[in-house]
Amino acid sequence: MTLRAFHAVALAILTIACGSNSNSRHFGTTPSGETVEIYTLRNAKGIEATISTYGGVVVSLKTPDRTGAPGDVVLGFDKFEGYLKPPPYFGAIIGRYGNRIAHGKFLLDGVEYSLARNNGENSLHGGIRGFDKRIWTAKPSSNQSLELTYLSKDGDEGYPGNLSTTVTYTVTDDNALRIDYSATTDKDTVLNLTNHSYFNLAGQGEGDVLEHAVTIRADRFTPVDMTMIPTGELRNVEGTPLDFRQPHRIGERINSLDEQLVLGRGYDHNFVLNRNGSGLELAARVTEPTTGRVLEVLTTEPGVQFYTANFLDGAMRGKGGKVYGPRSAFCLETQHFPDSPNKPDFPSVVLKPGGHYQSTTVYRFSTN
Ligand code: GLA
Repeated sequence: MTLRAFHAVALAILTIACGSNSNSRHFGTTPSGETVEIYTLRNAKGIEATISTYGGVVVSLKTPDRTGAPGDVVLGFDKFEGYLKPPPYFGAIIGRYGNRIAHGKFLLDGVEYSLARNNGENSLHGGIRGFDKRIWTAKPSSNQSLELTYLSKDGDEGYPGNLSTTVTYTVTDDNALRIDYSATTDKDTVLNLTNHSYFNLAGQGEGDVLEHAVTIRADRFTPVDMTMIPTGELRNVEGTPLDFRQPHRIGERINSLDEQLVLGRGYDHNFVLNRNGSGLELAARVTEPTTGRVLEVLTTEPGVQFYTANFLDGAMRGKGGKVYGPRSAFCLETQHFPDSPNKPDFPSVVLKPGGHYQSTTVYRFSTN
């Protein structure tokens, strides 16, 4: 072998060993021996996201503050092992069904399906081993975009149909993290995909989010019962602490004795977005006074779950050893409404063979 040929072979072996893309690295290994990679996506304007093939988790998301200084605005863990503990779903892709399905049961085409129950009697976020705990196959298309695919087999966590899912993360030139979801099935099924990033625009681990001001473009929300299942009513937000049609600080009304806030231990509700059509429309806007960071959420979905990390209790330490207490982040999980499979009046979540599930959400950052 000539020296040149030797170099070419050595380079090929090194490329395979290190992964074919220079923007990926080894993140960890699951207890069953699966390898987990982490990919870095960035644009030229200072936004950088890292995405794990485990759960498609957004591990970090750096955006500039009003002085141009970058800060990581999502909660998570430095080490892969952090994601193996009982999950608050930090940054993960949620599937097959974002939020709760009552009693883990639904009827479709006259057949009753029983799902894995992991939230009292209910099934939450896809069940015991949802999409947040699966290894996704990664295909980077550029330094700004990553395609993840996962085939969920017929019967997975009780759901019917072989479901072929693609989630594409893109860091756009206008400083957004764009998430495109698509899926097809070979049997009638139900589906509701979302992302469960926990944001703190002051920087992850920088205290609570009570001073963040939130606007949500919703005249109505879906009130819940004691088990956090929607009652079926679409209630007007007027006169309630869930009226975010004008900006309000998260902390302003969060401790009010409103029945819905007591049930949720804070905000943990699905808002019915005011929509004009089926395209990407503004759902919510959040501003943080000290850093000037602004987050706008645009979506094609009919709803958004506004959750104020009420279940974080400070026991967990995250990135940089930061303590994550209650209300140390907020989530804006774009979605169809919780328990839609059992609520015929809610927008349908049924996907049929030959149909194409398509959903897009954009988390766009700026400063003021
Ligand atoms: C969603 C739910 C919450 C909680 C979190 C994860 O937002 O609505 O009740 O389960 O996920 O902890």
